[in-house]
Amino acid sequence: MGMENHVRDRYTEGATKVVEALCCPVSYDAGLLKILPKEIIDRDYGCGDPSSYVQKGDTVLDLGSGGGKICYMAAQLVGEGGQVIGVDMNDEMLALARKYQDDIAKQLGDDRVVFHKGRIQDLALSLDRVSQYLAENPVTDLASADAFDSWMAAQRAESPMIEDESVDLVISNCVLNLVDDEMKWHMVEEIFRVVKPGGRIAISDIVSDVMVPQELKDDPELWSGCISGAFIESEFIEMFSSVGFTGVAFEKWDEKPWQVVDDIEFRSVTLTATKPLSSVHEEHIEQGHGVIYRGPMAVVEDELGNVFPAGVRIAVSKQVFERLGMAPFADQFIRLAPKNLPEPTIFTASPGTVRHPTETRGGDALQKSGSGCGPTGCC
Ligand SMILES: C[S@@+](CC[C@H](N)C(=O)[O-])C[C@H]1O[C@@H](n2cnc3c(N)ncnc32)[C@H](O)[C@@H]1O
Repeated sequence: MGMENHVRDRYTEGATKVVEALCCPVSYDAGLLKILPKEIIDRDYGCGDPSSYVQKGDTVLDLGSGGGKICYMAAQLVGEGGQVIGVDMNDEMLALARKYQDDIAKQLGDDRVVFHKGRIQDLALSLDRVSQYLAENPVTDLASADAFDSWMAAQRAESPMIEDESVDLVISNCVLNLVDDEMKWHMVEEIFRVVKPGGRIAISDIVSDVMVPQELKDDPELWSGCISGAFIESEFIEMFSSVGFTGVAFEKWDEKPWQVVDDIEFRSVTLTATKPLSSVHEEHIEQGHGVIYRGPMAVVEDELGNVFPAGVRIAVSKQVFERLGMAPFADQFIRLAPKNLPEPTIFTASPGTVRHPTETRGGDALQKSGSGCGPTGCC
C-alpha cells in the first residue's frame, strides 16, 4: 500500500492535535471563517485557498477534505441550492469534519455538505460501504475474497460514490501529493471522470522545481508532510492536459518556496482548468467558424495542436470555437461566425489554416463570452 499507512497515521495525529510541521501559512477570507469552530480552523493543513473559485449554485467536490474547513467555506459560497461533498480516507479527520455538521447547517439554514470516506484515487468506491460489507461478509477464504472483488467492481460500475460528470467544481487543498506515485495518473483520470462537461477544477498543491530522488520519496516523514510526494512543476500541468482538461494554468505560483530540502525547492501552487464541453474523441464539425488571437504573444498553441498567430483569422471547428468562448480563453480571442451557418461537415483543416475574411464577413464577431457585434458593426 506504499505510503498510505504513514499518511493515515500522520493525519490521525493531525486530527486530534495541531501538528505545526504540517501547516503551510495561508491567508483565507476571514469572513468565511466566522462560522467555523476554532478546532477546525486550527487543524488547517492546506497550502492554498481553492475556495475562492467556488460560484453560487455549484456542486463542489473537495478532495482530501480533512477537518472540513474548505467544505464549510465553500458551503457559504455555493449558497442555497448548491452542494458540497468532502472526501477523505481518514476516520479521525472525517469525525472532526462531521462533528460540527449540524451546527453549521443550522447557521446556513440547510445541510448542504456531505462527507464520504473514500480514496481520492478511487472516487467510485465508498469506503463507508466497504466497511459495512466486510462487517457483514468477512473475507476468510478465496471464495469470499472473489466475492469481495466482484462486489467492489459492481459498486464502482453501478453505484459509484461520486457519479460520472456530476460535479461543477473539483477543489483540493494540499492532498494530491500524498497519493502514491503509481496511482497519481489514475487519480487525475478520476477527477476528469467526475467533472461535468464545462466544469472546472482548482487544485492547490505542492510542486518541486526538480525531480525528487527516491531516497527522499522513501522517507515517510517527508512524504506524509506534503513534501517528497510533490509533483514536479513541469509535469503538473501536462498531467491534467493529457487526460483532457483544457486551459490548464498555474493561477498561483508562490515565489517563496514553502520548504527547501536537499537543495530542492518545494512551493505551493494553484492549478485551474476546465473540462471541454465536447470530447476530444468526438468528430469536429466544420461550419465556417474562425478566431483571431489578440496577442500579445506572437503565436499560441492549444492542447490539441491548434496554432494561433496573433492577428490572423484562423479556421476552427465548431467545438474549438465554443471552447475559446469560455474562461480562461474568452478575453484572448475574437470569435467570428458566418452570417448564415452552412450545413455541418467534418472539420479537416490542418492547424493554423487561415479563414478568408469573406467567409465570416457580416456574421457575429464575438468579442467576449456572451457579447457580440451585430452585422451592422455596432457593438
Ligand atoms: C494535508 S491534509 C489537508 C486537509 C485539508 N484539505 C485542509 O485544507 O486542511 C491532507 C488530507 O488528505 C487526506 N488524504 C490523504 N491521502 C488521501 C487519499 N489518498 N484519499 C483520501 N484522502 C486522503 C488526509 O487524511 C488529510 O485529511
